[in-house]
Amino acid sequence: MVTLTGISLPRLVTVMVVAGLVSLTMLYCWSSTPKNCPAPQTNSKQNIERYFGKKSNSLTGAAEDKPILLLWFWPQNYYFDFSDCKTIYDIDGCHLTDNRSLYDKSDDVLIFHRGISWDLSNLPPSPRPRFQRWIWFNVESPTNTAKIPGLENLFNLTLSYRHDSDILVRLRLRTRKKPEEDFVIPKKDKLVCWIVSNNLEWTGVGTRKKFFEEFSKHINVTLFGKAYATFLDYNQYYPTLASCKFYLSFENSIHEDYFTEKINGPLSVGTVPVVLGPPRKNYENFYPRDSFIHVEDFPDPKSLAEYLLQLDKDEDAYRRYFDWRKHLVATPHLIQQTQEFILAICTACDYIARHREYKEAHDIYDWFFQ
Ligand SMILES: *[C@@H]1O[C@H](CO)[C@@H](O)[C@H](O)[C@H]1NC(C)=O
Ligand SMILES: *[C@@H]1O[C@H](CO)[C@@H](O)[C@H](O)[C@H]1NC(C)=O
Ligand SMILES: *[C@@H]1O[C@H](CO)[C@@H](O)[C@H](O)[C@H]1NC(C)=O
Repeated sequence: MVTLTGISLPRLVTVMVVAGLVSLTMLYCWSSTPKNCPAPQTNSKQNIERYFGKKSNSLTGAAEDKPILLLWFWPQNYYFDFSDCKTIYDIDGCHLTDNRSLYDKSDDVLIFHRGISWDLSNLPPSPRPRFQRWIWFNVESPTNTAKIPGLENLFNLTLSYRHDSDILVRLRLRTRKKPEEDFVIPKKDKLVCWIVSNNLEWTGVGTRKKFFEEFSKHINVTLFGKAYATFLDYNQYYPTLASCKFYLSFENSIHEDYFTEKINGPLSVGTVPVVLGPPRKNYENFYPRDSFIHVEDFPDPKSLAEYLLQLDKDEDAYRRYFDWRKHLVATPHLIQQTQEFILAICTACDYIARHREYKEAHDIYDWFFQ
């Protein structure tokens, strides 16, 4: 059989005939538009524009020009380059600025709660432009949030770690369509690890301290942090986490949805987090059941220690804590202290680029401290 670059001759002829017929039909339809030709593709977006004008072409009213997001205070003076939002998270839907002379033009103003003075004198000027929204920016838990009077009904949007904030700041697990089959658990040379950033945190936190004191009688825990001999530099953080079978993801205060990078770290490197924080059910809204161990799964710290020692000897049982990785991906968080607020600020930028809705946030304290 004669072949032309892999296509057999009879097939080539068929293809040419069909192509010819199709183009003839198309020519005929273009010139006359009779009723047996397919109706022209109606573009619903074009139709909407015809009736309502160009601006109404989206349910969320996404702006046509990039909206301006004014960062009113630099959180804790941790400066970063706004272009990091694009570089790190591929977010560039807004124009981020800290230039207060753009206040009157700013679509949204991001106001860091801890930057606000008790007498409110350093808030942006009033009256605010009618189109402008103020965003309450608070990533602390209620235990560490001051109830500055007078802020209750000033804001339009809330930004926090809470699932019911307008803007949720969290690196969520992502789904992957193509299962990953070849995950290799990193080499482990430590059983249980814990990084405690300072003594204050360690002494100040009742539940956590009490639990740890009892727990560590029954199992060896490798401790890191300023309070201990082994202080970890940030570039040792991920390798160290990866070298431990289990990591104690103990939150310093216990509130709904308040789980932090303490669980994201071990999940992203391939270590099993042992969590102490809100109830298991709450964690399960964000992390699959078999990706972590919860202290409340056990009647007491001793039983938890015994379970971990048993898992240490049972390779198959331990491996099951990594099954979720087949279909989900955890993203490592930024670990330098000065990078602490980048995710929050970029998330706000992404949100305002997609949402232009009117909104008032009433009684933020009532909501936040409930
Ligand atoms: C801030 O914006 C104003 C008005 O656009 C401009 O004149 C000024 O140079 C800007 N300042 C800085 C530091 O970029
Ligand atoms: C902890 O480790 C030490 C030294 O490696 C060992 O002697 C001790 O029995 C261990 N303690 C527990 C509770 O496993
Ligand atoms: C923002 O919130 C304030 C106070 O609740 C309200 O007066 C204003 O109309 C809101 N503006 C927008 C654009 O949502």
